[in-house]
Amino acid sequence: MSEELWTALRLRCENCRACPLSAARKNLVLGTGSRTADLMFVGEAPGEQEDLEGIPFVGKAGQLLDRYLFAVGIPRESVYIANVLKCRPPHNRDPLPEEEDACIGYLREQVKLVDPKIIVCLGRISAMRLITPDFRITRDHGQFVRKGKYLMTAVYHPAALLRDPSKKEAMLLDMERIKAKLDALADSDFP
Ligand code: URA
Repeated sequence: MSEELWTALRLRCENCRACPLSAARKNLVLGTGSRTADLMFVGEAPGEQEDLEGIPFVGKAGQLLDRYLFAVGIPRESVYIANVLKCRPPHNRDPLPEEEDACIGYLREQVKLVDPKIIVCLGRISAMRLITPDFRITRDHGQFVRKGKYLMTAVYHPAALLRDPSKKEAMLLDMERIKAKLDALADSDFP
């Protein structure tokens, strides 16, 4: 059943013309990873490499994300990774509010289908959309908030770490806390 829902979702995204970004994309970038993940990451929008391959976080920023996942002992294939936007904005500019509005329903469906325990926003844009519009990444990263059934947090976007390596220590601490929270939630499932 859920396989059919995923196929239907992909088809609707493939055919979506709700904003102009679909016209220029090479590939739709829907999401990747475990569809039964307890942990879901949400970035902002595909970049050049993601657009070429149709997979989120495969470029330089994605490779850095992989290193943090490895460092804290989370296999990449055990998580689900998606973006707020499914099509690449020109020259990697920030998503426009109307593009986010047009696309957010697809992310909402992905979240419902995966039904993770923890959602981690990668960077300010995703956090402002999913946690609160006044989210400030330097002030609020690493803090957990409950939104409905989901525990949510945000970390620096890996591209920001490439630009400013002084943030890397904070990123490692945040990722370690995410792993600890994940383990604690898994333990609490045990009868
Ligand atoms: N940056 C993002 O926010 N998402 C990607 O998929 C790649 C880079």
